[in-house]
Amino acid sequence: MAACLKCQKKFRVDHLLQEQAKMTDTQTENLNLNEIYTQIKRHKIKCPECKGDLGQPKYFMTMFTTTIGPYSDAIGYGRPEAAQGIFVEFKRLHEIAREKLPFGAAQIGHALRNEISPRQGPIRLREFTIADIEFFFDPEEPHCPLLKHIEDETLRLIPAARKQSGKNEPVEVTVKEALKEYIKVEWQAYFMVLAKKFLEELGVEENRQRFIEKLGWERAHYSSQGYDQEIYLDRWGWTEVSGHNYRTDYDLEHHREHSGADLQVFKRYDKPVLKEKIVLEPVLVKIGPIFKKDASKVVAILRQSDVREVETCLKTKGSFMAGSFKVLPEHVRFVKKEIEETGKRFTPHVVEPSFGMDRLAYAVLEYAYNKRNDRVVLKIPRDLAPIQIGVFPLVTKDGLAEEARSLCNMLVIDGFRVEYDEAGSIGRRYARADEAGTPICITIDYRTMKDQTVTLRDRDSWSQVRTMKDNLATNLQQYFLFKREFEEMGKIVQPNKKL
Ligand code: GLY
Repeated sequence: MAACLKCQKKFRVDHLLQEQAKMTDTQTENLNLNEIYTQIKRHKIKCPECKGDLGQPKYFMTMFTTTIGPYSDAIGYGRPEAAQGIFVEFKRLHEIAREKLPFGAAQIGHALRNEISPRQGPIRLREFTIADIEFFFDPEEPHCPLLKHIEDETLRLIPAARKQSGKNEPVEVTVKEALKEYIKVEWQAYFMVLAKKFLEELGVEENRQRFIEKLGWERAHYSSQGYDQEIYLDRWGWTEVSGHNYRTDYDLEHHREHSGADLQVFKRYDKPVLKEKIVLEPVLVKIGPIFKKDASKVVAILRQSDVREVETCLKTKGSFMAGSFKVLPEHVRFVKKEIEETGKRFTPHVVEPSFGMDRLAYAVLEYAYNKRNDRVVLKIPRDLAPIQIGVFPLVTKDGLAEEARSLCNMLVIDGFRVEYDEAGSIGRRYARADEAGTPICITIDYRTMKDQTVTLRDRDSWSQVRTMKDNLATNLQQYFLFKREFEEMGKIVQPNKKL
């Protein structure tokens, strides 16, 4: 962060270097404070508000700090991701998953990051909506059985080595090829393909998407491999919409270390195996007279302690602290024993796909926004359209309005999001519906009163079909749920020229 020496406003300098000096985030993320200051001078970076000079940059903590309850020394932080809620609940989630791996948990909710100068509208917000998926698997059994369904899908990747050599064009590879060279974990590749398809369903075609690998120093502390999914936005250029990180056992291990909670799982072997083990045996005849009434406590602590740790302490320091009791070498014996092991305990590994939801909403709107004959047509994917169906009477007299209202009510009862509109000419109503992104409009006309057929009109092609009112709900369900083609819903008709 640096402050303007003239107007005192503060800015995130790496973003200013990217905007004003066209540096990439790879180039800026690797700089220390002095190097950043040098770049500010070299590229003559100025305050974007008043063109004043910028001062020395400083580090800035981007987590929101607060105090909890009435105690001013109980410091808390606004969560910068939803993920940790899943990790701390891992044990319970694992039980719910019937103690089987792999399994995933997803959480969507608000996150807070104290951005220094968020000047990109909904692309960078201090309070935003994040969707984190933590997918847990056994690192000794990392195979994704669903891979066979997607291994011939292609991914457009900019792997680390390519990025480092300054090439920004992605390589297009199949999942199978990517796993040989560029992606460490099968589950990660699987979720990257799902993310690609998800964005396609939101309207972003494949060639406007790419996955760019994070270099070592760009990666979050928990990540051992990370790809950002980026899409091209007209206003903001290549923009990250999701991150795919191989978080290994980093989070569960750190929670375990700091809380003492057991976050490991047990894996039963097919057959028990015999293993030679060093076992710690407390020497009761020595412990009893020394620790007297506390002797049983000392024995219990010793039995739960890590054998290697006790052994190392006794060897290197001459004693081991069992809680507040000082245990000496003569108080314990280390004995070799053959033990039958039925299984082993381990910490699962995690791949994490994580989506910025506000950005996705922005992307849907940008990609849906179209113009035809100078009119706005919002080609929002049909399953996301806030209004699915418009119902219009051609005119409001001769019972047409009543007929249209009753059809509208019927469709609402059937679970559709419907809007009734009788205001203005039918052409104007179609235009209003196009602008609101309503995929289908139904018109009730004089013929409806005679033969119970209605006209359906498609937002994207403006073509029309005529169909029976009776099976309308089933027809529309097929269209919205099963992506049936519009033309399959009835008999194609020429639009009425007078409309
Ligand atoms: N949980 C992923 C992220 O914070 O980016």
